[in-house]
Amino acid sequence: MTFDKRTIRDADVRGKRVLVRVDFNVPLEHGAVADDTRIRAALPTLRALLGAGAAVGLVSHLGRPKGPDAKLTLAPVAKRLAEFLGRPVPLQPDSVGPQVEKTVREMKPGDVVMLENVRFHPEEERNDPAFAKQLAAGFDLYVNDAFGTAHRAHASTEGLAHLLPAYAGLLLEKELVALGGILDQPEHPFVAIIGGAKVSTKMDVLRSLVPRVDTLAIGGGMANTFLLAMGRSIGRSLAEPDKETEARLVTDEVEGNGKELLLPVDVVAAPSADAEGASGAAIYEVDEVPSHLAIVDVGPRTIDRYARAIRNAKTVFWNGPLGVFEVPAFANGTRRVAELMASSGATTVVGGGESVQAVEEAGLAEKMTHVSTGGGASLELLEGKTLPGVAAIPDR
Ligand code: 3PG
Repeated sequence: MTFDKRTIRDADVRGKRVLVRVDFNVPLEHGAVADDTRIRAALPTLRALLGAGAAVGLVSHLGRPKGPDAKLTLAPVAKRLAEFLGRPVPLQPDSVGPQVEKTVREMKPGDVVMLENVRFHPEEERNDPAFAKQLAAGFDLYVNDAFGTAHRAHASTEGLAHLLPAYAGLLLEKELVALGGILDQPEHPFVAIIGGAKVSTKMDVLRSLVPRVDTLAIGGGMANTFLLAMGRSIGRSLAEPDKETEARLVTDEVEGNGKELLLPVDVVAAPSADAEGASGAAIYEVDEVPSHLAIVDVGPRTIDRYARAIRNAKTVFWNGPLGVFEVPAFANGTRRVAELMASSGATTVVGGGESVQAVEEAGLAEKMTHVSTGGGASLELLEGKTLPGVAAIPDR
């Protein structure tokens, strides 16, 4: 897929002060960064800008604060980034204001500063133009590399693009080429594996993918609604009966067009979906799940069917766990899909959220063609929606 937005390769950044919107909304544990994937993902853009003689200011949100919140300071992130870049990344006391502007204006080529959590100001999420203007103060150019937040029309993701010459960063470009490529020109056979708890959150993604795939595999809690719609017994498993009709429509559309639909044929069912439930867990055919048990994972025959599809595929897209993967006893299906994708010769794209976590935990991220840093953003892109953070960047 071609990417027609202006990128940093189109910009002359020498001697310029560049404000880069990154998505450093990372998990913290005991005041330190628990997963630095999103920080590492921004490094190519930051290194390219610094290498080309720019001074860089970084703007990001962290969490969903309601006003200033010491627990959501970007200090641990600035510390980790400084280690990666091998140069100081001083955190500013705020994201806007005269003191920040003075620091920005004094930056020299090669300098990096990080603005404090931009969501400490409610004007950020309101996309307040006056706030965006304050953010832009002292900067010459704006780069958006925050793919994970590109579905938000906020001051730092959208508003700034109208105030400064705006360019896409390399991560934004990479994500759009990889995920957009899935939609535009997937190499066939194209297999999409969609899991996760609720079908209601994935219905639009399913609708968008169905015309494009050769095989659609559905697992995780959301498969229960499909099984229910087919009259199968799902015991005490959670399902969304109000989505049965939509599930039937998806089923009909896939099968009616001569495509393959892979639903679980066997499952792991347990008395409860937590660690305690593991001792009472066993494998059942989907028709035979006892009424007192809940489905917590896909079974071995189902995994074999996934394996066959993945082995024959030229493109595999995966989003959403196939079982309650946070409980190790119920993580088998999710882990096996990660392994099967990692060892396949296909173009493999993992889109967002918990499936990314599963791939990272299995140490298999490097083996995939692309692992998205976006959760909500990757889903919205695959639903075919316009991402405001991308739309605001001028075309080349
Ligand atoms: C994410 O982690 O999905 C992004 O950083 C966006 O965060 P938000 O949902 O709080 O806007």
